[in-house]
Amino acid sequence: MLEIKDGKWRNALSVKKLKNGKKKMVTVGKKMILIGMQNDQYFATDALCRHMRWPLAWGAKVEDDCIRCPLHQTTHKITDGELVEWSPFPLFPPYGKLVGKMSREKNLTIYETRVEDTQIQVYF
Ligand code: FES
Repeated sequence: MLEIKDGKWRNALSVKKLKNGKKKMVTVGKKMILIGMQNDQYFATDALCRHMRWPLAWGAKVEDDCIRCPLHQTTHKITDGELVEWSPFPLFPPYGKLVGKMSREKNLTIYETRVEDTQIQVYF
C-alpha cells in the first residue's frame, strides 16, 4: 500500500471519472477525501463532515462555493474550509443546535488540486 508522507502531489482520480457538478469519495494512500467539480473547477476536502463524520459524498450540496452536509446542514467554504454554519438543522424542535453542541466547531480541511495527464491530483 502507498505510504503517505507530507507534501506531495498524489494521483486521486481519473479526470474521466468526475463530471461537472459531481463529487466522489476516494481513498488516497490511507486518507479518505472528497473530490468534486463545480463550475468546471476541481476541489478536494475531508471526506467526512466535521460535525458527526457523515460522508459528504452522500448527499452534500455544493453551491455558492460552500458545501453543506445533508444531516444537520453544517456548511463550510470549499475555497478555504472556513466554517459558515454549524449544525443548524432542524431549527424546530431545536435538535440541530443540541447535537451541534456535542462536538466543537471546526473548519474543513481543503486540499489543493491539479490535473496532471489524465489524473486529478491532490496535495498533502
Ligand atoms: S454530521 Fe454533518 S452536519 Fe451533522
